[in-house]
Amino acid sequence: MTPDPVAAAAAGTWKLGDLTVNRLGFGAMRLPQTGRPLDPGAAPGDRGRAVRVLRRAVELGVNHIDTAAFYFSSLRSANELINTALAPYPDDLVIVTKVGPGRDPAGEWLPAATPAQLRGQVEENLRQLGRDHLDVVNWRNQQGTASLADHFGALAQLRDAGLIRHLGVSGVTGEQLAEATAIAPVVCVQNRYGIGASPQEHRFVDACGEQGVAFVPYFTIAGAGRGAGATGAERDEVLAVGRAHGASAAQVRLAWTLQRGPHVLAIPGTSDPAHLEANVAAAALRLSPGELALLESIGTSA
Ligand SMILES: NC(=O)c1ccc[n+]([C@@H]2O[C@H](COP(=O)([O-])OP(=O)(O)OC[C@H]3O[C@@H](n4cnc5c(N)ncnc54)[C@H](OP(=O)(O)O)[C@@H]3O)[C@@H](O)[C@H]2O)c1
Repeated sequence: MTPDPVAAAAAGTWKLGDLTVNRLGFGAMRLPQTGRPLDPGAAPGDRGRAVRVLRRAVELGVNHIDTAAFYFSSLRSANELINTALAPYPDDLVIVTKVGPGRDPAGEWLPAATPAQLRGQVEENLRQLGRDHLDVVNWRNQQGTASLADHFGALAQLRDAGLIRHLGVSGVTGEQLAEATAIAPVVCVQNRYGIGASPQEHRFVDACGEQGVAFVPYFTIAGAGRGAGATGAERDEVLAVGRAHGASAAQVRLAWTLQRGPHVLAIPGTSDPAHLEANVAAAALRLSPGELALLESIGTSA
């Protein structure tokens, strides 16, 4: 498949609060390094290539970029790359960041932020992105099924103070989503999801749609490879569907996920310009009901 101009619009749009985004977006976690992200020993990625990928994404119509202050390698920060590549930002660009986790300057993980520490993390994102407010901030849960009320309540206060426009949650259960929604409006849920998800995960995606909440999956392409990335090994069903459309496995995985509902957004991550083009082109790929069912039947963690 080859992309056409503003190809990201081909999958339609969704509103994150009052902010309209094309459903095919971009995740910035792969930009700061080569190899595994969030690894203190990872080699820094090529700055020029990362900047080109970000600018090309916007040229292709991407207006939803996912990032975090803790996406960095020794010499590159995802937020700084976004700022360098895209500021002054297009009016329609929605940058979504996440707080909760933190890494020290050497890249080692810190304990999860306390509610009182979330303001500092929000301000760190504001400084790095060069903005006065953040479009959407996800609270990234790291505490299992425990109550998120104190953390999400702290973010709701920052929203009321004008530092954040909209709130989301990540790594949460249905119960935690309900708890957050009772505190402040939630515009998106960012959880791991894709072909091979469990029945419970499929049901949660549907439940978000019923509540009008965007579901923004990560590891949609990487699947079982998770942080290590796409494994290269692929399921026969995915390959067969790809052959029928002249599409790659990654494109099939993205298209299947987008067809799970109009509220499902995609944020594929790559530092490879050719992969970016292919991922955006997947916004136009439509799978048949039979193909969707075949792919949904693939077992957990494929
Ligand atoms: N909330 C959270 O806890 C959380 C966790 C993880 C990620 N995220 C966000 O979600 C985004 C997506 O996650 P992700 O980047 O880890 O996973 P992903 O988008 O599922 O897959 C990325 C992996 O697939 C490869 N890839 C991308 N496009 C490809 C293509 N067209 N053909 C073949 N391989 C391709 C990438 O390698 P190349 O670079 O070589 O293309 C990388 O190894 C992240 O960028 C981040 O913004 C959020």
